[in-house]
Amino acid sequence: MLPNIVLIGFMGCGKSSVGRRLSTVTGHRFVDTDELIVHEQGVSISEIFSTVGESGFRDIEEATLRELVGVCGIILSTGGGIVLREANRPILRSMGIVVWLDASPETLFERASRTGKRPLLHVDDPRTRFEGLLENRRAIYEEVADFRVDSTTLDHDEVTAIVLEGCRRHGKRFVC
Ligand code: S3P
Repeated sequence: MLPNIVLIGFMGCGKSSVGRRLSTVTGHRFVDTDELIVHEQGVSISEIFSTVGESGFRDIEEATLRELVGVCGIILSTGGGIVLREANRPILRSMGIVVWLDASPETLFERASRTGKRPLLHVDDPRTRFEGLLENRRAIYEEVADFRVDSTTLDHDEVTAIVLEGCRRHGKRFVC
């Protein structure tokens, strides 16, 4: 059986869209940490940020991730900052093949700013904030991932096919 696939990467890299396609193709259940958080807390991610701040959100995010340990047959799409908590990194790796979805900074910024739903970009100068966050996170995504897929020039179906091919190559690392 194909192991779980865990998608990490910056806001706007396509985790949810590609994750849903992977779910359709593999039959694995699609799970999105942000969706679970919104469902369980009953409020939006932006509301969580404005009431308990980023560190409060990270506590909820870590707890949500821990709830999923041991669950098999899933495609897990994660929030872009989930790798910031050091404790989350081995958990993500223990859960499945970790795929870093990436794209050029221009593409990521354009996609990430399309919806107003990213509280971290709700600042006077979102471009500078974006560049700082990206710079800080790239090395962490690289450290946690089994492999990286650059989606800059690819559509979601092409990315899905490349992810699946990569997962077949890395599949031996897991029993789940
Ligand atoms: C965040 C990314 C968001 C969401 C929250 C924080 C981040 O998820 O978890 O706004 O720190 O990069 P997406 O990556 O799905 O946008």
